[in-house]
Amino acid sequence: MRGNDFVQVSYFSKIPFRYRLSSLLFSICLLVLITIFLDSLLTGGLQTLLLLLFFFALVQIIKKWIVSKREFNLSPFNKLKRFISANKLYEEETREVGANQNGNPRREKIVVNSAYFLYMVTDDELIIRAWKKADKFSDKANSYDTLLSALFGLELYKKYDDIQYCDYVFELVNDQRIVLGNESLTLLNSDVIQLTSKIKWELGKPPHALIVGGTGSGKTYLVNTLILDYLRKGAELFVADPKSADLALIGRLVNKEHTATTENEIAKLLREASDEMEKRYRKLFTDENSFGKTWKDFSGMKPLVVVIDEYAALSSVSSPKTLKEINSYLTSLILKGRQSGIEICMIMQRPDANILAGNLRDQFGVRIGLGNMTDEGRKMLFGSVDMKYKSVNEIGGGFVMIDGQHNAPVYFESPLVPKDFDFIEELRKIRDKNPDSTP
Ligand SMILES: Nc1ncnc2c1ncn2[C@@H]1O[C@H](COP(=O)(O)OP(=O)(O)OP(=O)(O)O)[C@@H](O)[C@H]1O
Ligand SMILES: [Mg+2]
Repeated sequence: MRGNDFVQVSYFSKIPFRYRLSSLLFSICLLVLITIFLDSLLTGGLQTLLLLLFFFALVQIIKKWIVSKREFNLSPFNKLKRFISANKLYEEETREVGANQNGNPRREKIVVNSAYFLYMVTDDELIIRAWKKADKFSDKANSYDTLLSALFGLELYKKYDDIQYCDYVFELVNDQRIVLGNESLTLLNSDVIQLTSKIKWELGKPPHALIVGGTGSGKTYLVNTLILDYLRKGAELFVADPKSADLALIGRLVNKEHTATTENEIAKLLREASDEMEKRYRKLFTDENSFGKTWKDFSGMKPLVVVIDEYAALSSVSSPKTLKEINSYLTSLILKGRQSGIEICMIMQRPDANILAGNLRDQFGVRIGLGNMTDEGRKMLFGSVDMKYKSVNEIGGGFVMIDGQHNAPVYFESPLVPKDFDFIEELRKIRDKNPDSTP
């Protein structure tokens, strides 16, 4: 962090002394005085040397001042101060200030109130906070998106509208898309699932991932790359693919026994995952010593990831009885899975409430919406957040919201799978390195 304190800026903020012309004049006067004093102590050749030193110091002082002044002019402090003036984000009152020569009252405009901003620069972000002080500027505090973007020449990355302030976050270091096969970015960090260079979460913290997007938006590709990451963490994989497509292929390769495509197979798969969960609960959480612990606190526990592609397709083809069974296992896995190391990764084209109930949807700590979803779809996925979604033009691009990290969805691009990337070969490599991850 370059600094972790907010700096306040308003109409009333004074330019720090060191950037004012008076500070330059002050330094020069001081230099002259010191030189005159030293000059009175020295004679002959030494005086000439002193004069040379004087000019050298003078040039250095002026140069340093010009450089820092230029830096200051580009600083968020100065930009925000100009922004407040240029947009008249202050209130004036005309007041009497004495009398003129004719004895008539003299009036002057005085600034009596100002909009207040705070800013903070971290290693990779610039955060601008617009205060809501319950004055005439409060209503505007959340409407500076385009103005601030133009002011700093940066695209708005995140915005968080709170009761007392609105934060605008600008990225100083751009988020980078991971390219599969480019090992420098695919972090092999123990528990971290890496979505982009910046966006990541710890497996199970928060638990469960929901991936939504229209057909062809890249859901299956994204899940495939997540699977690679899960397997690198030594996870056991259960796959339910009602479309019996790519995912089932991977499932059969990684864990044939636990790859399901028909409704009955899927019901059985979820029952087995659910049984495993109950077994883990009985084993891990029976005495008072286990209070507050999770599976990570016990040695020898592997995460179990259940990937379900196209849940809506499953709902439409299954008989009511099987669907009821599937839903009941799924509900308990979603609600109780976290502590026992069971992670659900679910794909849907639309997060309809009649397919996935709102209370269950809210249990997904990582929510991803790929492609240009409808406003309604985004609202169902992310809840009502006051933000403008930029249009998604990249294949695999979308928005993600991670519990505990984001207050509003942020734009991201799924790891890029190059045409020549051999997924199957990569799976084999992981299996060879980590034979425990698959049966
Ligand atoms: N991350 C990516 N890297 C490279 N290509 C991608 C990526 N994501 C998607 N694509 C391209 O887009 C196509 C569609 O992606 P994908 O099959 O993942 O979509 P989907 O959302 O699962 O669609 P559906 O709902 O029909 O199953 C892929 O065949 C691939 O060519
Ligand atoms: Mg798909």
